[in-house]
Amino acid sequence: MKFFADTADTDAIRELAATGLVDGVTTNPSLIQKSGRDILEVTKEICGIVDGPVSAEVVATDHETMMKEAEVLRKIADNIAIKVPLTVDGLKTCKKLTDDGTMVNVTLCFTANQALLAGKAGASFISPFVGRHDDIGYDGMNLISDIRLIYDNYDFRTEILVASVRHPIHILESAKLGADVATMPPDVILKLFNHPLTASGLEAFLSDWEKTGQTIG
Ligand code: G3P
Repeated sequence: MKFFADTADTDAIRELAATGLVDGVTTNPSLIQKSGRDILEVTKEICGIVDGPVSAEVVATDHETMMKEAEVLRKIADNIAIKVPLTVDGLKTCKKLTDDGTMVNVTLCFTANQALLAGKAGASFISPFVGRHDDIGYDGMNLISDIRLIYDNYDFRTEILVASVRHPIHILESAKLGADVATMPPDVILKLFNHPLTASGLEAFLSDWEKTGQTIG
């Protein structure tokens, strides 16, 4: 499973990239606003930190203006994925861009039928929002399970990119369902490393080792 960082915080991205376990980054207008930085400047910096896909989102709602914005964003770097909303104009833009060889991430997906449309539009990634589903009392993982079944039934090349991730259980369940990618806030990625028995076990090993008075090398 690929791990993307869901943030425009370049310090956090650098720290995560240093683990060698981050395969890309996703941003959105809210994350750009939170960074307090210029979208082109911060996105270019992010594209320099990670080699994998970096999603940059258009903010227009009509196809023609989306195409103009996509033209600006895709010039930032070769690893840019254009993020478009799951609307009629968003999927028209997705089809045009992917036919042209540009990576496209279709965002704000909340139904399997929406994901089916994005698959037919040739999207590189589909981003179903599991956390926002959970927020309104639906089990967001059912959406991932349905999309996985449909995409496998018709051999769609679109990768399932689990988004709006809130906690490590979203990652566990997504991996068990065979999702291709998960994008997570930095704190969730770091929580994946943690287990109290790992920490206490290491502490015990190190205290026992200290008693030996030895060093390695
Ligand atoms: O980047 C899209 C998505 O992951 C945002 O999720 O619900 O945490 O704002 P949320």
